[in-house]
Amino acid sequence: MEKFDVTVIGAGPGGYVAAIRCAQLGMKTALIERYPSLGGTCLNVGCIPSKALLDSSEHFYNAVHHFEEHGIDIKAPKVNIKQMIERKRGVVKMTVDGINFLMKKNKITVYTGHGTFATKNTIDITKDDGKKETIETGKTIIATGSKPSSLPGIEIDKKRVITSTEALELTEVPGHMVIIGGGVIGLELGSVYARLGSKITVVEFMDRIIPGMDGALSKELQRVLKKNLGFEFLFKHKVTGVKTTGKEVTVSAMNSKDEKVEIKGDYCLVAVGRRPYTDNLGLDKIGVKMDNRGRIETDDHLRTSVEGIYAIGDVIKGAMLAHKAEEEGVFVAEQMAGQKPHIDYNLIPGVIYTWPEVAAVGYTEEQLKEQGKKYKVGSFPFKASGRARASMDTDGFVKVLADEATDEILGVHMIGPRTADMIAEAVVAMEYKASAEDISRMSHAHPTFTESMKEACLDATGKRALHI
Ligand code: FAD
Ligand code: NAI
Repeated sequence: MEKFDVTVIGAGPGGYVAAIRCAQLGMKTALIERYPSLGGTCLNVGCIPSKALLDSSEHFYNAVHHFEEHGIDIKAPKVNIKQMIERKRGVVKMTVDGINFLMKKNKITVYTGHGTFATKNTIDITKDDGKKETIETGKTIIATGSKPSSLPGIEIDKKRVITSTEALELTEVPGHMVIIGGGVIGLELGSVYARLGSKITVVEFMDRIIPGMDGALSKELQRVLKKNLGFEFLFKHKVTGVKTTGKEVTVSAMNSKDEKVEIKGDYCLVAVGRRPYTDNLGLDKIGVKMDNRGRIETDDHLRTSVEGIYAIGDVIKGAMLAHKAEEEGVFVAEQMAGQKPHIDYNLIPGVIYTWPEVAAVGYTEEQLKEQGKKYKVGSFPFKASGRARASMDTDGFVKVLADEATDEILGVHMIGPRTADMIAEAVVAMEYKASAEDISRMSHAHPTFTESMKEACLDATGKRALHI
């Protein structure tokens, strides 16, 4: 039986990064993945393919709506959905092939098959053809990720009633896509199809979209998606069921007045969150404890209830984000090597790749109010940015929250062009406990979108924005 210092179960961004860091630190490392391609949800059916389709659909949208204004005359562009999906597959393939290369480079032994604990230190690997292999391990990192969740009364047939996985592989542009859930997946994939010409209706349980983010971002994103892409939103609607008849889907919901509402479309995307995936992992056999939401319980060091077994990423508590999983992978590997790593969960940014993009880090205004913290607000709209006017991306703003007494930046919330990239400045600033004045005294290249961050900091630090 082959013996390893560490075995990682699951090759998503949490697992494969953990494996690389373990190998870098000199541990003999194995990585078990049940699917033939590495990279997990993120690379195969998540971050990467969704961004590929977001980019393609954005090009199409701009060709239809903005080229003429830029002075570019072209024949009326048409969508070739087969080619769009094919290109996306190519991007995914290139990315997952890159992970194979990284595994070889770092001398990590990759096993393809489903991993199940036989004992605390032995893991069975079952291949698709039923053949079994067993390996011995000193320590284990569980990084088995998550799967889409559903709601009672909804059967996901994967044809008309679909999850994000199927929405990334459609062979036609829907006429009317009804999306259950106004969270990240609903708005990103809704944007893809709205840009390609679908009518989008979002049915949301809460009274606003992206409920966990700063309220100002929800309000602006809702306004822009409605104005630019014709999104329709039904808030305070509790979905009770979905029926399919041929090519038609009917979504039933109760509105806030307890009236029954029916919405008809040709596709229904269920995007109400994801559940941790621990199926057939053998956790009960070895006594790994779970919480009441099916997540593996971990302490501050990401140790499970069983000594030598750690868990990271979507399968444990916290934001379900690829970069959070990666940080945790590195954290666990370095701890095993006797180092003292640290993760500040408050400084893990969140991004939504709609257009305009939404990006945030730190506390929201609602959270600061709840904490009774005294804070100042600075903001700057992109319509006052020369760079944004040049690219015709004037929706949105940067909002900076700073401590009223010390001026330390407590949260940054952006919606606008390329804010997914801009948020990195806010993360660095907050990691080094910068004040709003610190940022406002640093030179930001002109003309760039990042000047809006400086202007919002100037506004926060004494209402001294220069360009408004
Ligand atoms: P996963 O990526 O889910 O990987 C777990 C792996 O473990 C899988 O490959 C699975 O097959 C394998 N596995 C499970 N059980 C076993 C077993 N018993 N034996 C062997 N293998 C097993 N996050 C972002 O940060 N940015 C984004 O832009 C973004 N976009 C997204 C878009 C979509 C449509 C979706 C669905 C998600 C998106 N996410 C995004 C979330 C991101 O994909 C996840 O947070 C991330 O993949 C979690 O990483 P992980 O390593 O914990 O788990
Ligand atoms: P989500 O948690 O972002 O949103 C789910 C939405 O569904 C919420 O607004 C919720 O109020 C609503 N909802 C729940 N039950 C409902 C009901 N019965 N009726 C109507 N609405 C209901 O989950 P989502 O969008 O499925 O994404 C899953 C995870 O994937 C997220 O946690 C996210 O972190 C990750 N992800 C990240 C991306 C990124 O970083 N850009 C992109 C896509 C996914």
